[in-house]
Amino acid sequence: MDVKKVISQMTLEEKAGLCSGRNFWFTKDVERLNVQGIMLSDGPHGLRKQAAGGDHLGVSGSVEAICFPTASAIAASFDRDLIREMGTALGDECQAEEVGIILGPGVNIKRSPLCGRNFEFLSEDPYLSTEMATEYIKGVQSKNIGTSLKHFLANNQEHRRMSSSSEIDERTLREIYLAAFEGAVVKAKPWTVMCSYNKVNGIFASESPRYLTDILRGEWGFDGYVVSDWGAVGDRVEALKAGVALEMPSSRGINDKRIVEAVKKGTLDEKILDQAVERILTVHNRYIENKKPDATYDKEQHHQLARKILSECMVLLKNDGILPLKKGDDIAFIGEFAEKPRFQGGGSSHINSYKITSALKTMKGAPNITYAKGYDAEEDIADEALIKEAVEAAKRAKVAVIFAGLPDIFESEGYDRSHMSLPECQNRLIREVAAVQPDTVVVLHNGSPVEMPWVQDVKGILEVYLGGESVGEATVDVLFGDVNPSGKLAETFPLRLEDNPSYLFYFGEKDIVEYREGIFVGYRYYDKKKLDVLFPFGHGLSYTTFDYSNLKVSADVIKDTDILTVKVDVTNTGKSAGKEVVQLYVGDRESSVIRPLKELKGFEKVALNPGETKRVSFTLGKRAFAYYNTEINDWHVETGEFDILIGKSSRDILCKKTVVVESTVELPVVYTINSNFADIMADPEAMAACQPLWDSVVALFKEENPQAGDAAEQVIVEKMVENMVKVMPLRAAINFGDGSITYERMNSILEKINKR
Ligand code: BGC
Repeated sequence: MDVKKVISQMTLEEKAGLCSGRNFWFTKDVERLNVQGIMLSDGPHGLRKQAAGGDHLGVSGSVEAICFPTASAIAASFDRDLIREMGTALGDECQAEEVGIILGPGVNIKRSPLCGRNFEFLSEDPYLSTEMATEYIKGVQSKNIGTSLKHFLANNQEHRRMSSSSEIDERTLREIYLAAFEGAVVKAKPWTVMCSYNKVNGIFASESPRYLTDILRGEWGFDGYVVSDWGAVGDRVEALKAGVALEMPSSRGINDKRIVEAVKKGTLDEKILDQAVERILTVHNRYIENKKPDATYDKEQHHQLARKILSECMVLLKNDGILPLKKGDDIAFIGEFAEKPRFQGGGSSHINSYKITSALKTMKGAPNITYAKGYDAEEDIADEALIKEAVEAAKRAKVAVIFAGLPDIFESEGYDRSHMSLPECQNRLIREVAAVQPDTVVVLHNGSPVEMPWVQDVKGILEVYLGGESVGEATVDVLFGDVNPSGKLAETFPLRLEDNPSYLFYFGEKDIVEYREGIFVGYRYYDKKKLDVLFPFGHGLSYTTFDYSNLKVSADVIKDTDILTVKVDVTNTGKSAGKEVVQLYVGDRESSVIRPLKELKGFEKVALNPGETKRVSFTLGKRAFAYYNTEINDWHVETGEFDILIGKSSRDILCKKTVVVESTVELPVVYTINSNFADIMADPEAMAACQPLWDSVVALFKEENPQAGDAAEQVIVEKMVENMVKVMPLRAAINFGDGSITYERMNSILEKINKR
C-alpha cells in the first residue's frame, strides 16, 4: 500500500477517525480506500484476545491461550535466548489468532515491592530490564507481529496511577527510568510504545512532546507509533501534538471530533494528523502484508515450552542440603497452592489458560506424596483444623514442602499492596510445620518480594514467582532435580519493607509522588547504605557449584571512546550439569558526583557439565562507565579508576580488576570569585595561577593560630587550616586576606584561567 497516497485521498474526518480505536481492541477500517483495522491485545506473558467485548480486569472471557511465566519470573532467567524463544512463540500465537500487536513487554522499574503490578515488570535494574525486553520484542517481531513497550514513562505504582505525577530529577530519569526503555527502543525497534497514565513532573505522559517525540524519536530513533494506555488521553489535541498517534480504546468519536475542529480552527496543523496516520498505517501494513491466514500453533508444545522456560527462571533462594528431593521419599505437600497454584496476576494481563498444572497433579497420586491444604487462599484466617492436619502430615513424612505465596487479592493491577507480608495464616502454618519437621522446604508463588520471618526455620526456599500455567510441572522438575535451578533474583528482597529506599514517600502526597531516593533504587541503595538484605539482587543457588578464575581485561587504560573486553573462566566444580549467570558490575572508585558503589553492566548465562570450563566474554563501551551529566545533557565519564567486578550476585563478587578510563570530553568550567579552592585544585594549571590567593588566606589563618606547640602539633594545625581553606571560595582572599589581593588582581587571574 502506498500509505502517503492513501492518506492524500482521505477526508479530514477519516484521518481523525483512524487515530482512535473502533472499539476496545480494534482500530478502524476505511473500506472505500481498502484500509483495514487490526486487533491489539494484551500481553505481556500470553495472549488475552477478547473475542467479544473488552474489560480491564481480565474477568470477561478471552480465547484460550498459553499463560507463559510472568515478567517477574522471566527476568530471573537472565537468559536472552530463552526470552526470545518465548517472544517467538507469542508471535506465533498472535499470527494464529489474527492479533497484529501484543501489548507488552512492561519495563517499568520496580521501585518498591509494594507496586501491585510488579509481576508484570522485569526488574529494579534498568540494564537487565532493557536487555530482557529487547529479546522479547525481537522474538515477537520476528513473526511480523508488533509489540508495545510499556508504560512510558515512570508508571511505578498503581495507586492513583491515572492522576499522580512522578516527580523525578533529570539524572534519575536518564539513569534509571528512561534507561529501562532506551536500550530496547534502540536495539529492538518496537513497532509501538504505549504511553502511561501518570504525569511526569507535572505533565501527563500522553501530552509530553519531550518524552514522546524529542527523546523517543529524536534521541533514540523510534520509528513506530505511540499508542495511549487504555484511557490515558486527556487533551486529545495536545496528545496528538506531543506524539500519541493512536488513542485507545475509543472515545466513541468525541475526541476524533476535537481533532477535526482543531484543524478547522487552525490550532492543529493538519500535517501533524497526517504524520500520525502515516505512522499508524505503516506499522499496521507490516502486519497485514505478512499475515499468515492459515497459521495455527500447537498448544501442547507451547505449554511444554512454558514449562521449560519457567524451570530456567525459578530462583533457589536457600538450600541447606535438602534439595533436590529424592523421588521415593515420603513427602508431604502442604498448602492450597500445591493443588491450586497461583501462577498469574490480576488485571489486563489475565490469560484464559490452555491448561493449568499443579504440583500435586503432576505427581499423579504417587503413594509417597501426601497432601494437606493447610490454609485457605481466599482469606487470611488461620484455620486451626487445617493447620493441625498439616502439622500431622509433616510429622509423618520425611520432608515437608509448603506451597505458599500471595493470594490474588494481595497483588493486582489497579492497586498496590499495603504491606510486604505473606498472609499471616501462611506465616503461622510455616512456623508450625517447621517446628515439627526440620526438613521443610517453602515454595513461593508471588509477583514481588515478601518478608520471611521464618527464613532461619526452614532448610530450603524456592522462589517460583508467578510462573504461568505449567507451574506445577516446572516446580516438580526443579524440586526433584530433573532440572537444575539457574534463576537469579532480578530484584532485592529487603529484610523488611521499611528498608526499601522509597519507603518514606512511595505513595506520595495526594497526586504528587516525589522520587526522593533518586538513582538509589534497589541494590544501588542497599549496597551504598551497607544494609543487610534478605536476599540480594542477582542471588540464586544451583545444585552444583561454580568457580571463576583468570579474569582478563583487554587493556588497563582506555579512553571513553574505546571498547573494553573482559574475559573470565567459569568452571562447574560440582557433580551435576548446571547453568550459571555470570554478572559483571562496574564501580567508579572516586567520583565528583554521587554514584552507586556498582551497577550491573553485563551478564551471560552459560551451561556447564561437571568439570567443564568455559570462557565468558563481555564488551564494555562508554555507557558502562558513564553517569548522566545534566550540565552537558549527556553521558559523561570522569577520568579515573573503575572496578570491573565479576560475581555470582551483587553481594558475591569473586574477581576484580581495576582499569583507568580517560575522558575525551572536557566539561566546560567557568571559574568565578565564588569557586571553591577544592574544585580549582583538581585543575593544576588553574591552581598554580590561584596560588597567591591561597597563600594569602592560609597566611591569615596561620597568624590566628600562632605556632605554639611542638612540631607534631604544628603539622596538625597546618592540616586543619588547609582543610578549612580548601572549601572556601576564592573571594576569601579578600575577606580574610592580608590586603595584598584586590578585586582587580583576582579578576585578572580569573580571566587568565577561564580563557585557556
Ligand atoms: C493497562 C495496559 C493494558 C491495557 C489494555 C490498561 O489498563 O495498563 O497495560 O495493555 O489496559 O488492556
